[in-house]
Amino acid sequence: MDEVGNAENSSAVAVRARQNQMVERALREWQGELEGRVAVVTGGARGIGRSISEGLMRAGAKVVAADKSWDGAEDLRKQLEAEQGLAVEVDITDDSQLDAAFAAVMDRFGTVDVLINNAALVSETLFYPTGHRNTLDTTDQDWEAMFGVNVFGTLKVIRRFIQPMRERGRGSIINVVSSGVLPVAAGGGYHGLRPWTVEMPYQATKAAVTALTFYLGEEVRSDGVAVNAIMPGHTRTSWFDATARAFNEIGVVYFMRPAIAEHLLPITLFLSAQDGRGAAGRLYYVPEWNYDHGYGDYAAWLDHELPSDMEEMYSRLEAAMPKYERAGVPHLPFDAQGALYAAAMANLGSQENWAGGPTQ
Ligand SMILES: NC(=O)c1ccc[n+]([C@@H]2O[C@H](COP(=O)([O-])OP(=O)(O)OC[C@H]3O[C@@H](n4cnc5c(N)ncnc54)[C@H](O)[C@@H]3O)[C@@H](O)[C@H]2O)c1
Repeated sequence: MDEVGNAENSSAVAVRARQNQMVERALREWQGELEGRVAVVTGGARGIGRSISEGLMRAGAKVVAADKSWDGAEDLRKQLEAEQGLAVEVDITDDSQLDAAFAAVMDRFGTVDVLINNAALVSETLFYPTGHRNTLDTTDQDWEAMFGVNVFGTLKVIRRFIQPMRERGRGSIINVVSSGVLPVAAGGGYHGLRPWTVEMPYQATKAAVTALTFYLGEEVRSDGVAVNAIMPGHTRTSWFDATARAFNEIGVVYFMRPAIAEHLLPITLFLSAQDGRGAAGRLYYVPEWNYDHGYGDYAAWLDHELPSDMEEMYSRLEAAMPKYERAGVPHLPFDAQGALYAAAMANLGSQENWAGGPTQ
């Protein structure tokens, strides 16, 4: 490896060491509360769900990871079994499979303390690999498939797994949604945070789950159950590399360098330890929560261990990005990131493509 390669590698090692320290700190902070708790994570075999399953296991929880497919996740299945957890194969759109999964969890553990509703189809898995389809080009079947998993599936899971929480008068439900649901105001009427990302029907499903979080949260708070929602940052998960490579082929860098899935762990551990008397009925943007609670700014969680072709894409984008500082805060909110990304793509000479690739 040459000198530049060595320097890049040692800074990647330093970034990872700092990320590990933040995860360790979160574990120290919440381990005492989570030891022995029964936590169900849907979509727990890969991506963000896998990272959450592993984090909760490290915090001493008994973890049930539920997923419709365990292909390529045999190591996690073995680890769950070794650590008194459970790997369940279940499609959350199927009532009878869910009944069987709920019975298996109650039979084994007798209760449920925490439910993470993470399983979902995302745009990039429904419209693999780029995820972009203009709204008027989507079919009713696309909407039914996505609402089937993300909304009705989530509701079916909640209806079952909330029962022991209400009976015991305590529990925590965390719904994983997306920042694309946010309306923001810049002095006048509200507008979407980033509708140029072309994400129907996905964002419609996440908006439904966000509203569900607020209304259900209010209804069950007095039963001792906290219902909250979290919006992850742009995260490298199971589909990410294929999507980034497909965009690269048409001269587009797939937005900014992604974060590692562990950036969700501190807030997930915190919310898992809540109940109806604690933090409830809230919607959190994970990078802002991390920043506000001493778990680093956005940059602190970025992935610097990308395969070399992807490292090349994101290094090229970062080199073309103008320097920018937002007054008052040392890290960039989403709107500023969007503007910087557009400027960098323009500097790379791909302005006509930057917003969404060929389907725009
Ligand atoms: N990755 C990101 O940048 C990002 C950003 C915002 C929100 N999210 C949200 O994070 C969550 C996890 O996404 P991810 O990026 O890790 O995706 P992923 O595709 O890597 O993981 C999703 C998991 O859900 C499972 N799943 C899908 N349909 C299912 C079903 N019917 N029954 C059971 N399991 C099913 C999949 O098998 C997979 O293991 C989703 O709710 C997604 O909307 C992700």
